[in-house]
Amino acid sequence: MATEDQTYFEAIIDRRHSDSLKWAKYRDRYILPMWVADMDFRCPPPVIEALRQQVEHGIFGYAVRPDSLNAVIINWLSQQHGWTIQEDWLVWLPGLVCALNVACRGLVQPNQQVVTFTPIYPPFLSAPHYSQRPLIRCPLQYETGRYTFDLEQFENAVGDNTALLLLCSPHNPVGRVWTKDELEPLVEICLRKNILICSDEIHCDLVIKPTARQIPTATLSDAATQNTITLMAASKTFNVPGLNCAFAVIPNPQIRQRFRQAAFGIVPHVNAIGYAGTLAAFGQSHDWHKQLLDYLRQNRDLLVEAVRSLPGLKMDTPEATYLAWLDGRDLDISNLVEFFEVAGVGLSGGAEFDAPGFLRLNFGCPRKTLLTALDRIRTAVSKLRR
Ligand SMILES: Cc1ncc(COP(=O)(O)O)c(C=O)c1O
Repeated sequence: MATEDQTYFEAIIDRRHSDSLKWAKYRDRYILPMWVADMDFRCPPPVIEALRQQVEHGIFGYAVRPDSLNAVIINWLSQQHGWTIQEDWLVWLPGLVCALNVACRGLVQPNQQVVTFTPIYPPFLSAPHYSQRPLIRCPLQYETGRYTFDLEQFENAVGDNTALLLLCSPHNPVGRVWTKDELEPLVEICLRKNILICSDEIHCDLVIKPTARQIPTATLSDAATQNTITLMAASKTFNVPGLNCAFAVIPNPQIRQRFRQAAFGIVPHVNAIGYAGTLAAFGQSHDWHKQLLDYLRQNRDLLVEAVRSLPGLKMDTPEATYLAWLDGRDLDISNLVEFFEVAGVGLSGGAEFDAPGFLRLNFGCPRKTLLTALDRIRTAVSKLRR
């Protein structure tokens, strides 16, 4: 694909009858789905080609990991994030939501607590609940147009029995890329208080703020390396979330063993299609990735501009992800999701993220779709103010 080619992302692909979770929710209704985090773009051509070869082979038996996959991941992490990892740190998984649940079960005793910062991607709230581990919720602090950690509150909230921090970095839904100055003192508290860190970095390759740089939590110090599980996947970046392939990077052998033990017999193996897609994504889709970031940045800028002119809605500029976090509290509407569905746009409600009054909008779509959604939002909001 030519580097300057944006037409790939402009294509409107009809997903209404494709058994897509995102689109099935509003099948045959006048609602554009902008909720769950998958994008409406075709994935990179090398991924499509790799999957075509798998399909044409025609036998879908149990799979082993392709020989070159670990090397491709090691190379990607080194090139993109300056992180040198060892092959035996990698644990392959069929998804990261299951990894959050495995971490809660395998690394936290029943009488110990998990802690996380809110608002947060809902499985961070449900994983401790399903695992019957109490959860401490620390609200992110909002100051001068951006969310950050309130470290004093965090330190006061955790105790001797807090075993695991579920950290989202970059953050879904607030779109922050945490800086070294923010991460370092957080990691220092965790080390001092003996709290393991599970750093979900699934969005690490979707940094769209030109001056921001993703810092893998595990790279902050040797102690951080030994105290952190990092979760990653091709799924968000290369738009292959339905292929069910992800990995954890766990340098500490004892933690890796406990994590693996908790997954044994419950978490299924990765399938051949998932491996093939991941290999082609990280191995051969660099141009597509660069183009995607440019396209998303333009969508984001357009969205920020549009929302600024809407009375009652506010948003900060996301630094990463294709997810916008909208503050709709000034609209004073009890059911915001329903209000916008009636207007023709399907958004995620903030309550699921522990933040009623907010909405999450997925702008990983062709610009035309985004513009249509913005028109509908504008019409609905302006009617309110008449
Ligand atoms: C922070 C975060 N973790 C995990 C996931 C989903 O992971 P998976 O589809 O591999 O279970 C998402 C999806 O949006 C996410 O935003």
